[in-house]
Amino acid sequence: MTPKDGPLHVAIIMDGNGRWAKKRGLPRTFGHREGVKALRRVVESAPDQGVGILTVFGFSTENWRRPVAEVSELMNLLKTYVESDLDRLSREGVRVRILGRRTGLKPDILEIIERAERRTAGNTRFLLQVAFNYGGQSDLVDAARKFAEAVEQGRARAADLDETLFETYLSTTGAPAPDLIVRTSGERRLSNFLLWECAYAELVFQDVFWPDYGPEHLKSAIAEYAARERRYGGAASDDVLATG
Ligand code: FPP
Repeated sequence: MTPKDGPLHVAIIMDGNGRWAKKRGLPRTFGHREGVKALRRVVESAPDQGVGILTVFGFSTENWRRPVAEVSELMNLLKTYVESDLDRLSREGVRVRILGRRTGLKPDILEIIERAERRTAGNTRFLLQVAFNYGGQSDLVDAARKFAEAVEQGRARAADLDETLFETYLSTTGAPAPDLIVRTSGERRLSNFLLWECAYAELVFQDVFWPDYGPEHLKSAIAEYAARERRYGGAASDDVLATG
């Protein structure tokens, strides 16, 4: 069965970098570096697998609690990834978008984020969203605050608030919700990722550490997704037919 026509939106919690490194007796930062290579492989192969949007969890609002050196490595990796890949991504029609809070990020990181978004704004072949300094709860709180400010300033009315309007205040606004959320490394949690947007997503958990992830793992996650029937709260298609 085909659960959805058109390109898929796949979101990935890239988990297991630390354990991948530990297994090899390496520092955790090595795992993150290998994680960037896996990200590159997945971005490269995703369009050929029918994916139109890829959203990845690069740094969560909770990740600030990690040792300073690891936080600084993750910041660095975003910067070097964008610096080294921006030309190619831009040439290949990829639009890059960074989700999450901009406050708390250093000026050099903000500059690179803005450069990547500006440079690729007109691209339409593929959308790559990197959730960075992102938390589902903080994104909901920020949205609520922005809406409250709009009400205070007379630009919005509380009575008009519905799901469609609320979504316009989220950092994910403008992109459809994910069809499939994948988490690697065997953990089975959403960990504050896309809490609003996950409402009807299919969840697939894969027992592979992120640095080992490749096109074949994406293919198997999509196959698992495709075998499921999405009902969005309605009845199964067989039942609908049976009862007219
Ligand atoms: C989880 O592994 C992964 C992260 C916290 C960061 C994901 C980051 C990358 C894949 C590289 C950076 C890429 C960009 C674009 C910023 P973990 O460290 O929690 O692994 P563990 O659970 O085994 O300790």
